[in-house]
Amino acid sequence: MSTAKGRGVRHFVDLHRVERETLAWIIDAAHSLKRVDPRGLAHRPLEGKTLALIFEKPSTRTRVSFEVGMRQLGGSVVMLTGSELQLGRGETIGDTARVLSRYVDAIMLRTWDEDRLEEMAEAATVPVINGLTDTSHPCQLLADVMTIDERRGGVRGQVVAWTGDGNNVARSWIRAAALFDFELRMACPEPLMPPAELVAWAHGQGARLSVSHDPDTVVRGADVVVTDTWVSMGDKEAPSRHNLLRPFQVNDRLMRIAKPDAIFMHCLPAHRGEEVTDVVLDGPHSAVWDEAENRLHSQKALLMWCLGGEDKLPK
Ligand code: CP
Repeated sequence: MSTAKGRGVRHFVDLHRVERETLAWIIDAAHSLKRVDPRGLAHRPLEGKTLALIFEKPSTRTRVSFEVGMRQLGGSVVMLTGSELQLGRGETIGDTARVLSRYVDAIMLRTWDEDRLEEMAEAATVPVINGLTDTSHPCQLLADVMTIDERRGGVRGQVVAWTGDGNNVARSWIRAAALFDFELRMACPEPLMPPAELVAWAHGQGARLSVSHDPDTVVRGADVVVTDTWVSMGDKEAPSRHNLLRPFQVNDRLMRIAKPDAIFMHCLPAHRGEEVTDVVLDGPHSAVWDEAENRLHSQKALLMWCLGGEDKLPK
């Protein structure tokens, strides 16, 4: 379990930093919350608790789903951007964490550098949740695994094909492949491959992971086809990225190579006509709106775990 210096604080800094049993509990709890009380009208398990949301990068889904989710669980939120805080004027992230820990019950941080998240988790005495960094997006993968469960009857043994940039979301798919036991086939341009150390880590965990450069090969016969934006927040060199990634676009032709009942996933925001065509995004294979909704349910389950509310799940 991910702890702050053994104090037993339930941080969620990355998928592989919590026990597999915990991940399984969160996914099961997310399904329960969605099935039994999707709008949180009957159960208020986190009444009296407060979540601080800190965004050093823009967000639509993460911001709204955490805020609405916390309110549905009976809690409240404090929404902050980096520029509003003294962080923007040089206060350290560690000192910010120490102070916020005296006011709130959990902190979600969206930031650039993984080291900032680690520094916050190290100093905070309340749970710290990774709301995306340049190298990971574990909350997204909770929703994605939940969505595959719903649409494919379970994630175990599924064949997932990633085509595009080996970015932060791709890297979290690699972590997830090792932890949720599905096959992950990735096709990325050579300059945008995921880090070799991460691929080696996944292979060391027994993950069924292959990394290549040919989208057709990875998508052929896949259950799930996934991509993401060509230019992630903070990326530079947009024109060269577009040239490199154009052959990796998910379009009707590529989807026809996947299984006939394959689903298409994208964490959003999508750039229509770039990494995915309208026909795919709006078509019968698309699971992206369920995927976006499931951010809400899976993060509610995550908040319940972080705040020790396992025995308060609605029955
Ligand atoms: N997928 C995702 O994290 O969306 P936002 O950037 O809008 O939060």
